[in-house]
Amino acid sequence: MNKKFKRYTITSALPYANGPIHIGHLAGVYVPADIYARYLRSKGEDVLFIGGSDEHGVPITIKARKEGVSPQDIVDRYHNIIKKSFEEFGISFDVYSRTSAPIHHETASTFFKKLYADGKFIEKTNEQYYDEETNTFLADRYITGTCPHCGYEKAYGDQCESCGTSLSPLELINPKSALSGNVPVLKETKHWYLPLDQYEDFLKEWILEGHKKDWKTNVYGQVKSWIDQGLKPRAVTRDLSWGVKVPVEDAEGKVLYVWFDAPIGYISASREWSKRTGKEWEPYWKSDDSKLVHFIGKDNIVFHCIVFPVMLRAEGSYILPDNVPANEFLNLENDKISTSRNWAVWLHEYLSEFPGKQDVLRYVLTANAPETKDNDFTWRDFQARNNNELLAIFGNFVNRTLVLTKKYFDGKVPSRHELQDIDKKTLDSLRTFPEKIAGSIDRYRFREALGEMMNLARLGNKYLTDNEPWKIFKTDPERVETILNISLQIAANLSIVAEPFLPFSVEKLLGMLNMKPLKWAVAGSADLLQANHQLGKPTFLFEKIEDAEVEKQVQKLLDTKKANEAAAPATPQKEEITYDDFVKMDIRTGTILEAEKVPKTKKLLKLKIDTGIDQRTVVSGIAEYFTSEQIVGKQVSILVNLAPRKLRGIVSQGMILMAEDKDGKLVFVAPEQPVSNGSEVK
Ligand code: 2FM
Ligand code: ZN
Repeated sequence: MNKKFKRYTITSALPYANGPIHIGHLAGVYVPADIYARYLRSKGEDVLFIGGSDEHGVPITIKARKEGVSPQDIVDRYHNIIKKSFEEFGISFDVYSRTSAPIHHETASTFFKKLYADGKFIEKTNEQYYDEETNTFLADRYITGTCPHCGYEKAYGDQCESCGTSLSPLELINPKSALSGNVPVLKETKHWYLPLDQYEDFLKEWILEGHKKDWKTNVYGQVKSWIDQGLKPRAVTRDLSWGVKVPVEDAEGKVLYVWFDAPIGYISASREWSKRTGKEWEPYWKSDDSKLVHFIGKDNIVFHCIVFPVMLRAEGSYILPDNVPANEFLNLENDKISTSRNWAVWLHEYLSEFPGKQDVLRYVLTANAPETKDNDFTWRDFQARNNNELLAIFGNFVNRTLVLTKKYFDGKVPSRHELQDIDKKTLDSLRTFPEKIAGSIDRYRFREALGEMMNLARLGNKYLTDNEPWKIFKTDPERVETILNISLQIAANLSIVAEPFLPFSVEKLLGMLNMKPLKWAVAGSADLLQANHQLGKPTFLFEKIEDAEVEKQVQKLLDTKKANEAAAPATPQKEEITYDDFVKMDIRTGTILEAEKVPKTKKLLKLKIDTGIDQRTVVSGIAEYFTSEQIVGKQVSILVNLAPRKLRGIVSQGMILMAEDKDGKLVFVAPEQPVSNGSEVK
């Protein structure tokens, strides 16, 4: 952690170019990465901050098919929207590339060929699902079925989004083609696999032993659980037409798996940057004195902590990430952000509806960053943080300082005279901030760093309020000179330490102070502004956000909810059954006695239920909607004669009846009034 690095290679997850950027992406990845890059640049470090669009993968081709356009059309559309919105939002990439670019295809091919030539892959021919109607092998999301771990019926061939387990298509129960809806057949095909299992010792030593202390617990924990479960060889090629062609003989109709080519996209982007700037890219990737940091969301952990490092290691000439500070997820108004349900705040829309307010969103997303747990964005909180924090503390302090200096001293920095205790204390405190803020950023604690930055603004605000210069100007103008000098020094310091978080406001602030940007090294000093320096014109850094503005946004979300409900008719009635079929089901009332989360799952709760017949264990996929405290003691309906089945090693004896609404929200189907446990439901 304390090693001195010569340069920093900062990557931010390449967003899929099949939809625009939303606040979840921003809070999880791009805002923290940008804060980190800006901070390091301010410290005079050599930084390469990399972004780009991830333009391969099945969801993109599925979308293209639906719209009747080519995959290239889809990625062109979204790449441009994404790139422009990042620029306007002030994400300070040194390069923003894309994986459909020729330089990426070339880089990824070369990488694959090196591993191939060095014998790093296993070649295997086996049976895979094939859709005979569309003549396609069904990779990843082209196939859906029931998850063998949690019973979720819409699991994909690569992952169950309900329990988070990564799957292979052959594990799915009742597989169906996403293209035709048909039941697929099995057909032989050859693929190349990266034998992750051969790298277990390397991963254990490098991460489990080497990064136990400095990696975030959520990241470390996920990686450990993957390694503990035992790693398996992973296919890195697919039978698809969209992607980087597999660059070896006898690989017709095959492309690199998107998760093989995408992280190589970071390297391709660096090469593109190198061509443009004439600077060398290799030191950023191949020199031990470079620090590689991947900013990602939690769903990308395994790829950045296990698969990509194994690829880099197998290639042999690359460095490994020093840290992968993955964030958890951000929710929106208490509901999961979802592109398909349009439940999101889209960056391009925000930028046009809140012009000039980039920093407000940057601030709110950092103050609320899902660093250690999932967090919620609400429009009310957005308004409150703007009005009560940015405006009332930061903006108010800067404005009062500048306006008073203009009024009393024609906008010229007054001198400091003999210091009183309160001045000395304030300046002592001022000196401590840069280090505190830096310490937090160095440890990827951006919320904490932002909080400290605001504490500096608070210090300034309180200093002014305590000294009340407006009351003493007539009697003691010299004292007012000192007070305003100190206040202005604090404002000048804010222009340094706030820049990583609020770059647009800092630009305005620098205009007001009539100053050039200063580097981090001088932060803490009480001599950033010389006496007599002519300041610029005071303006407002932040504006009040009115109720009507946030109400409009809340209404927009309510409209989305309604539109979703209207667009999704109830699922069609199932096939007819007889009365005898019905009475076979033994449904009883029961009471939940205990409930605990099944470790390493998102959705599963292990319940102990008094069914009136006995006390039994039921595993239920409701953990996202209910905590244990909320449901213990609750009476429910339970299907008691369902054949027991094992979920995550626990035998579940029965099923709790739930109603699922169109948004996937679950509610209990429970007796309206208490009845005795074991009552038959018929
Ligand atoms: O999850 C995602 O959005 C992926 N497109 C991230 C890719 S990160 C990197 F590997 F390119
Ligand atoms: Zn599952």
